[in-house]
Amino acid sequence: MNATLSLSAAASAGGADLLLWVAFPYICLAVFVVGHVWRYRQDQFGWTSHTTQLLEHRWLRRGSPLFHLGAFSVIAGHVVGLAVPASWTEAAGIGERAYHTTAVALGSVAGVAMVTGLAMLCARRLLARRIRLTTDRSDKVLFPLLSVTVLLGFGATAVHNVFGGGYDYRSTVSVWFRGIFALHPRPEAIAGAPLLFQLHALSACLLFAAWPFTRLVHVWSAPIGYLARPYLVYRRRTPTPAPAMRGVQSPEPRTRRAA
Ligand code: HEM
Ligand code: HEM
Repeated sequence: MNATLSLSAAASAGGADLLLWVAFPYICLAVFVVGHVWRYRQDQFGWTSHTTQLLEHRWLRRGSPLFHLGAFSVIAGHVVGLAVPASWTEAAGIGERAYHTTAVALGSVAGVAMVTGLAMLCARRLLARRIRLTTDRSDKVLFPLLSVTVLLGFGATAVHNVFGGGYDYRSTVSVWFRGIFALHPRPEAIAGAPLLFQLHALSACLLFAAWPFTRLVHVWSAPIGYLARPYLVYRRRTPTPAPAMRGVQSPEPRTRRAA
């Protein structure tokens, strides 16, 4: 694939760049924010991962941790790669070569875990009849969109940074990404990036727009409070009989009192 092939080259117009790299991301982010407020007000009881553990657990037990561990590592990699400017890592003594080598190595392991885990989750959803029957419209949007985003990201890393000569996305894609949040859009920064990076960024924007209407809202409900919460102590209302009394019929069964 020609590394310089890009959407903008095909469109060859400044207007297309503005549409793709400014208007579209901001529309998706607006839908992301407003959608979450709407979902929270409309459907607080449906704000869960909708776990299907009770319907099928063999594939889930392996696929879900693999996918989630991969996802957490990929997210950490994105925070460093997209949000932290190259000048900061260089000031911290991490040169471009060291950064690139570490990012490709860790990113590849995380990417393989995420792709494999997601493949297992999707296979389970397609092959296990009980899961297929509980798959609703939002899942039919979420799973393909998530898979396309993950495969494009993985593909971009593999084609350009593992098998290719190496592409410095921190001076293009990352500059565009930070510009969006700094309210200082830089469409020209990503306009010449390779097609796989561009498609990955666009599908990620679409995923953010779909996010509030899917089970992905569970990401914001991590039970972090559990770490600081006091223990729940479960006690019987009646004292437990002494060991010597065990097996002896009590005059009034405990279950009746507890009810
Ligand atoms: C904040 C930390 C997170 C927690 C505590 C969490 C927890 C869970 C739980 C408990 C489930 C139900 C399935 C199971 O029992 O394993 C689940 C499902 C799921 N999670 Fe997460 N998750 C987190 C972050 C994420 C992230 C970052 C993503 C994706 C970017 C994600 C995507 C999914 C998907 C797609 C499912 C559905 C799996 C299926 O039913 O096929 N989660 N998550
Ligand atoms: C606009 C938002 C995003 C941008 C700008 C972006 C950008 C990038 C870039 C530049 C890479 C290449 C990293 C490398 O070669 O070392 C990459 C890889 C990857 N991305 Fe994204 N990404 C975004 C959102 C997402 C989302 C939402 C997901 C999945 C839920 C995702 C999943 C991946 C995966 C699996 C890889 C390959 C593994 C890795 O290198 O870490 N990305 N992304």
